[in-house]
Amino acid sequence: MRNKILVTGGAGYIGSHTCIALHQAGYDIVVYDNLSNSSREALNRVSALIDKPIEFIQGDIRDADLLQEIFKAHQFFGVIHFAGLKAVGESVAKPLMYYSNNVSGTITLLEVMAAHKVKNFIFSSSATVYGDPETLPIDESFPRSCTNPYGQSKLAVEHILEDLAVSDNHWNLITLRYFNPVGAHSSGQIGEDPNDIPNNLMPYISQVAVGKLATLSVFGNDYPTVDGTGVRDYIHVTDLAKGHVDALRYAEQQTAPVGFMPINLGTGRGSSVLELVTAFTEATGKNVPYQFAARRAGDIASCYASADKAKELLGWQAKLDINDMCQDTWRWQSANPDGYKVT
Ligand code: NAD
Ligand code: WQD
Repeated sequence: MRNKILVTGGAGYIGSHTCIALHQAGYDIVVYDNLSNSSREALNRVSALIDKPIEFIQGDIRDADLLQEIFKAHQFFGVIHFAGLKAVGESVAKPLMYYSNNVSGTITLLEVMAAHKVKNFIFSSSATVYGDPETLPIDESFPRSCTNPYGQSKLAVEHILEDLAVSDNHWNLITLRYFNPVGAHSSGQIGEDPNDIPNNLMPYISQVAVGKLATLSVFGNDYPTVDGTGVRDYIHVTDLAKGHVDALRYAEQQTAPVGFMPINLGTGRGSSVLELVTAFTEATGKNVPYQFAARRAGDIASCYASADKAKELLGWQAKLDINDMCQDTWRWQSANPDGYKVT
């Protein structure tokens, strides 16, 4: 069946939004997730939003036997592979856990796919693989380097996919390099639900706005940027989700498989930390008190995408702007101050 897709990590932040986009595009999905960083409630809400039960299997991508069973039971066209761990700081403290989940887990999944001749693979990579770029915007041909185990795990998988493509020319290995995903579904029903104190800027801002955290620390105000604070390419998770549907369509349309195909998903525009804080206040009316703090180790000054390849190959372009990202984040955060936790 050309429309049946396995979504690993589908209960997570980007995966749950992508399930909705896939359903809207007519795909039939099976979600596979070990719930190590997500909640069943996210999928209950996705089911309510699409008015259809979600086929969910709780399992780990390192469990080859369970994956074999699932691939025997379903005829998948392809896999969208979100499952993995993503906290940079935690990866420094627990590198083996990161390489095990992100690298070994992906190898196991690819082996099972190969055994079942399912060779359409959409991989969640990250702009982190570009390290500190020499020029901007960043296009897909830029050199890659990483300084932390999380980034190394993404880069290692990219290298594995490149080698796999050389060894066997039946694969579509579409590697989507996300810039900075933010925002939430426009319903306010699903969104990002970090455990503990958020590491990333947008969830931190929204938790300050909702009163869970007192003040935002702005990490560095002496970068060579518009106002001294770090610049990133924030991309709405709904646009990002649509990019996965477009990547699948692209794979379906190929007469000859494309092999390893890296594609940036970003807006092509950078915003500074202070610009995001101001945009959030303008979009929501909520004040976000902040103080300047030291630079965060490992951070770079600026990072934004060239999104030309996504437009040319996939016909994909981000449609939602910073105002939408802030409004939708706030709709989710204010309606669900404790995320998916039932209080
Ligand atoms: P998330 O943590 O919300 O989702 C990941 C999902 O994978 C979770 O539901 C988790 O329970 C599951 N998972 C983790 N390890 C697993 C395993 N071994 N077996 C089965 N399931 C497992 O993260 P997200 O923000 O939705 O990110 C999705 C993917 O995109 C990740 O691979 C991440 O590295 C990548 N990515 C995220 C960002 C970002 O800023 N959010 C940026 C670039 C790339
Ligand atoms: C954005 C800007 C911070 C928090 C990370 C990962 C990357 C990718 C996306 C997965 C920077 C500043 C942040 C705060 C701040 N994830 N900041 N105060 O670092 O670009 O990317 O998430 O692949 O791999 O490294 O995103 O949201 O953490 O930071 O001033 O409390 O906000 O210094 O300039 P980053 P971020």
